[in-house]
Amino acid sequence: MKKVLVINGSPRRKGLISRMLDIMIEEADFHGCEVDVIRANDLNVKPCMGCMVCRSKNACVLPKDDSVEMLHKLQLADVVIIGAPCYWGNIPGQLKLLFDRMVYGMMRDTAYFPEPLMKGKKSILISTSTTAWPWNILFRQTRGAIRALREILHYSGIKIVKTIERGGTAKHPQLSEKDKKKCRKAILCALK
Ligand SMILES: Cc1cc2nc3c(=O)[nH]c(=O)nc-3n(C[C@H](O)[C@H](O)[C@H](O)COP(=O)(O)O)c2cc1C
Repeated sequence: MKKVLVINGSPRRKGLISRMLDIMIEEADFHGCEVDVIRANDLNVKPCMGCMVCRSKNACVLPKDDSVEMLHKLQLADVVIIGAPCYWGNIPGQLKLLFDRMVYGMMRDTAYFPEPLMKGKKSILISTSTTAWPWNILFRQTRGAIRALREILHYSGIKIVKTIERGGTAKHPQLSEKDKKKCRKAILCALK
């Protein structure tokens, strides 16, 4: 049974990211996966202090918070689905904060290139923005959020199988049949 971890970086329970994730969750359930859904805004995670101690000690010096359990969930997952609305051309702060605190379990510093610690996992990335297509891509709005996630997943060794970028959310707040189809297709790709 495949383990699917869904990390929802959107605070909007009825937003587009949440609705797209719901479709993927339903599809993953249908295919018999074990699905765990986490909303980044519900987590209690203190910001990284940048002390770099975790790089040698393999643990964070800050008091234990939800980042520890999240790292454990990530380590166990076969597929990771991350939803990140575009905030300032990037991912929302709460999501970035979480990945900052999990860095020691995701990659290891070496003398040359970082060693990825999450190899063998697959991921799907989703981003939304009010900026409409094609400007969400050309002006690096959803593209900026996806780029930021790519950076994290690349150095962690997590393979990205699909990305979905949906612009124009203020003008077109409803998911089209095409949007829904993309979501179903993405999860099937990740479960292959
Ligand atoms: C703090 C904040 C920053 C935002 N920054 C951008 C931005 O840089 N570009 C953009 O196109 N939309 C921006 N937005 C709009 C969101 O990307 C947009 O509302 C998105 O559709 C929310 O997705 P959701 O409904 O899936 O949560 C921002 C929204 C917030 C709350």
